[in-house]
Amino acid sequence: MCLADGGNNITCLDIDEDKIAMLKKGESPIYEPGLTELLQKNKKHLHFTTDYPSALKDADVVFIAVGTPSGENGEANLTYVKSAAKSIGKHMTGDLVVVNRSTVPVGTGHEVEKIIQAETSYKISMISCPEFLREGCAIYDFMNPDRVVIGADAKHEKAVELLKDIYKGVNKNDAPFVVSDLRSAEMIKYASNSFLATQISYINDLAQLCQDVDVDITEVARGMKLDKRIGKHAFLSAGLGYGGSCFPKDVQALIALGKKIGSHLPLLEQVESVNESLVEIAFGKIKKLLDARDVKLENAKVAILGLSFKPNTDDIRDSQSVKLIGRLLRAGVSAINVVDPIVHWEKEVKRGSLLPKRLLDDKTSLGKITQMNGGDALEAVKLACKDADILILATEWNNFMNLQFEDLKKIMRNPCFADLRNAYSKKEVESYGFRVENMGRK
Ligand code: UDX
Repeated sequence: MCLADGGNNITCLDIDEDKIAMLKKGESPIYEPGLTELLQKNKKHLHFTTDYPSALKDADVVFIAVGTPSGENGEANLTYVKSAAKSIGKHMTGDLVVVNRSTVPVGTGHEVEKIIQAETSYKISMISCPEFLREGCAIYDFMNPDRVVIGADAKHEKAVELLKDIYKGVNKNDAPFVVSDLRSAEMIKYASNSFLATQISYINDLAQLCQDVDVDITEVARGMKLDKRIGKHAFLSAGLGYGGSCFPKDVQALIALGKKIGSHLPLLEQVESVNESLVEIAFGKIKKLLDARDVKLENAKVAILGLSFKPNTDDIRDSQSVKLIGRLLRAGVSAINVVDPIVHWEKEVKRGSLLPKRLLDDKTSLGKITQMNGGDALEAVKLACKDADILILATEWNNFMNLQFEDLKKIMRNPCFADLRNAYSKKEVESYGFRVENMGRK
């Protein structure tokens, strides 16, 4: 959509017919703020198809933007990338610049080049141009990149220039191009994502220590970020940790690559284990709150705010909130009321593919989960809190940033609040008569 908005004529191909049918009707298959508007604004430059020959006819550049989910041992699953490469090789109608956008292990670009070249006598110029978009603000990030990374072997300088021209039309802030070799570009993506994940596990590790020495982790983060070498945009918000379709898989893929070639990455192994431990730590805080009110887990009625892995997305892939729900159900809680401004729980249960198998297979537990949808989020929160023994903030949607604790205390069976994203001052919520636990904030 952004490339079309920059004046290019774009054909989008996907093998999922339902997705293409929706796009043809001007509807977006995913929730991403501003995407539908961009789709409708640029419909003259946008074509949608499931057919490779018509997609590739007279194309100058083809972008591979398919998924690279985690495989069994954490390695990136390249099935879709390789299948797209083979189809491109089969159906291209002339020399072609092939740009890989998907996050792929170092060396994949050369593999893709070989797969395509085996299918055609036309010449291809292989480029790696990884994306750095955050869900929920993907359009802004695309239009205002910090940098555009372009990786290609030296002989493809013409193709690099073509890609730079394409991006100049979109790049609102005239961000710098980082032109490097193919493999370095692929590694820049993994290195960036795993570094961001490292920051998150670092602050979460420190948060547990700060809690034990009566220090507020949000104050510590505030003081750190003013150091230009750390930076005001650093990922230093302590809480329930990272989820989503990128950080978990990219950290695992780098660890797997290290193991495969025998040069382990012990720091990243710790980043992953710190993040995984946060659900259990959060569960311990929830149990502590319930114990203090003599509520047994098997009788506990829980209200959880936020299912998505972060605010402003409908994506529940590797969501820490969903993992916590699974942990609470395994502990035998009697009921869980969930509120999320965008995620439809029933639809996700029907789809199945994005939820943990262990949770999906346990039908009795699934029956304990009810999504509350009031007129607005705060109405839904009230419905969820009725006779509840604990309120848990798991994803810090703006909709949950103005909770009316005075009202909630009147309708809850026990006034307990687990602020797992450190969104509220503990003292302030306690002043309404709540017992509060959080992830290192005073
Ligand atoms: C990330 C990268 O930011 C992006 O550059 C890359 O292209 C894709 O992966 P995304 O996964 O969409 O983007 O979300 P992001 O905003 O990075 O948050 C990732 C996870 O980290 C979320 O679960 C979020 O809750 C968590 N997070 C983020 C923290 O726990 N603390 C922080 O300080 C920041």
